[in-house]
Amino acid sequence: MALNLQTSAGRVRRAVISACMLLVAAQLLSVASGQTTYETLFNAIKNKQSSLEISGTVKLIGNLPEISHSMTIVGTNKAKIDADEWSYRIFVVKGPGKLVLKDIELYKGQPPLKSSKPAKLFPPLADGGAVLLYGGATGEFDNVFFNHSKSWRGAGVAAYGGSTVKVSGSWFLNNYAWYAGGAIYLAEKSTGSATSTRFERNKGPDEGGAIVVTGGSQFTSTGCRYRKNTCKEEGGGAWALDGAGSWAVSANDTFVVNRCEFKSARGGAIIVSDKATLFVLKSTFDTNRVPSGIGNTIWVDGGVIGLLYGPPTSVVEFPKGKAVSIPTNPTGITIP
Ligand SMILES: *[C@@H]1O[C@H](CO)[C@@H](O)[C@H](O)[C@H]1NC(C)=O
Ligand SMILES: *[C@@H]1O[C@H](CO)[C@@H](O)[C@H](O)[C@H]1NC(C)=O
Repeated sequence: MALNLQTSAGRVRRAVISACMLLVAAQLLSVASGQTTYETLFNAIKNKQSSLEISGTVKLIGNLPEISHSMTIVGTNKAKIDADEWSYRIFVVKGPGKLVLKDIELYKGQPPLKSSKPAKLFPPLADGGAVLLYGGATGEFDNVFFNHSKSWRGAGVAAYGGSTVKVSGSWFLNNYAWYAGGAIYLAEKSTGSATSTRFERNKGPDEGGAIVVTGGSQFTSTGCRYRKNTCKEEGGGAWALDGAGSWAVSANDTFVVNRCEFKSARGGAIIVSDKATLFVLKSTFDTNRVPSGIGNTIWVDGGVIGLLYGPPTSVVEFPKGKAVSIPTNPTGITIP
């Protein structure tokens, strides 16, 4: 018996040693090829480094530590963080922490499921497939490619508790929320802005194929392109705004071929409900659709909308007997 134990302990030891040697060899190889490793990224965050350059593909082999300091990560050499086929969410930033990402692809992130223990204790943990911001955190993304992440809400980025999201020159492709907000989910008085960014083929089955603005949050979009984003049931192929105090401005954006799938859905491009406010300036809408044909473009159910400089009032529809007010001056809102 004792002998047996010893041999198996020896076997385990040998296996561990060879696994270690493999890891060392892999490290040496990636160092030789100029690739940043998971360990380098992990330690930079853990040691609260203020900046890091990432080169090549970093494949996650575990979760990264939560970021609670100010950190800038810049990619070179086709930088990509690969979450190994939806095995891990990529970044969590907790206020007052700030993450600035530049020139990098975030690939196939996925957080714990909604039914998991951590998400039952703190529901936002199931949200933000690539990046979760909470408690007044800031995330800035410049030329970041959010490719194919998944989560319950905000498959690209989810923001809670007065957090801030700034996106420029980026691309959200094929991000899939199981509930809402395929690309970005802004909740609990969070603030978001997007400029010159493409949102394509993102999905939020309940509402907001690309963007959800809820719980008194605000969003400003300038010169962005929303194309082929979809939702199923409620509405807002591209955007869904709801809740008192929630508002969004779309300026110089294009919304093309966004759609909803179910007959019940309204707002092929945008749905505004429950006292939210939308302002549209110079944006254009083309071929956004819902199956019922009611509210193909913008559907306003109990909210407020303003159309300035361009978009025709015919793009706006609302339930019978629920007239919408169309102010010309968006009070309290800074127009970009
Ligand atoms: C994005 O992700 C898909 C897989 O979902 C992959 O095939 C593709 O190469 C990635 N990049 C681009 C530019 O589509
Ligand atoms: C509008 O957006 C386009 C790109 O979508 C850009 O080329 C143009 O400069 C923008 N115009 C204004 C006035 O912002």
